[in-house]
Amino acid sequence: METAQSVRTAFDLTGRVALVTGAGGSIGRTTAEVLAAAGATVICADVNGPAATETASGILGLGGRAESAELDVSVRGAAEALVGHIAARHGGLHVMCNIAGIMIDSTIIDLDPDEFDRILSVNLKGVVYGCQAAGKVMVAQGGGSIVNMASAAVLAPAPGIGPYAICKAGVAQLTQTMAVEVGEYGVRVNTVAPGFVPSNMTARYYTNPDGTVNEETKAAMVKPMARMTPLRRVGVTSDIAYCVLYLASDASSFVTGQLLSPNGGVSMHY
Ligand SMILES: NC(=O)c1ccc[n+]([C@@H]2O[C@H](COP(=O)([O-])OP(=O)(O)OC[C@H]3O[C@@H](n4cnc5c(N)ncnc54)[C@H](O)[C@@H]3O)[C@@H](O)[C@H]2O)c1
Repeated sequence: METAQSVRTAFDLTGRVALVTGAGGSIGRTTAEVLAAAGATVICADVNGPAATETASGILGLGGRAESAELDVSVRGAAEALVGHIAARHGGLHVMCNIAGIMIDSTIIDLDPDEFDRILSVNLKGVVYGCQAAGKVMVAQGGGSIVNMASAAVLAPAPGIGPYAICKAGVAQLTQTMAVEVGEYGVRVNTVAPGFVPSNMTARYYTNPDGTVNEETKAAMVKPMARMTPLRRVGVTSDIAYCVLYLASDASSFVTGQLLSPNGGVSMHY
């Protein structure tokens, strides 16, 4: 019979080691905090080293377990070196969250080739490298959970942010293929595809030249988005982090190769 204890245990990450990329950013930081609050030791990694350190410090300040690392996911071998270091230090890696990402605004026709290379390197190759590094360790240890961050942009045409959506569609495909390849070793691979969440990334739409938030522009953007969403709101970072917790934990032990869409119901796929 399921009990309060067995349900709590299903979501409990005590004794697990988790690596979160993009942990200095909005969704990555909340995800690191949630995984740590669920008991994991979280390695907070970001190309922005001080931001990663700030996330880890916040977790440590609340009595959680965390470390930080400067990591550029687009650099070949960088994720593998970090994962190797984590596995040697902690005896394994149980959860890998590939959350680091960047955005460029461009139509397909106007897409600058260098910008295309840049976004492919971070948003697609960076996730591949992260999956490879974590996957090798997890296959060898006989289990683990990889969670990749895509976007609602993969569920519909994405005019103006096509290069970003192309990468995220690649992430969804990568997830399915890898899930089939590593399933027999007890390794699960899933994608989270968030809808709009006000964050450092989306702030470019409503930030004044002096760096302050233009609340009027923000409201003008967010309100219509909320109106066209069945749940009548945009997301908050914890909406996404709790999906990651579910996929990272034993509560989702029969779930792999899936795309989970915390988006208020704005785009449904059948
Ligand atoms: N905010 C949204 O509405 C939304 C919606 C769908 C998907 N997402 C995805 O969620 C993830 C997090 O986005 P966010 O909104 O929190 O943005 P954010 O800008 O707050 O966080 C992104 C983080 O990734 C880090 N990063 C960038 N390049 C990196 C690199 N080469 N190596 C390591 N770290 C790097 C940044 O320093 C930053 O801390 C991204 O993958 C994004 O595409 C966001």
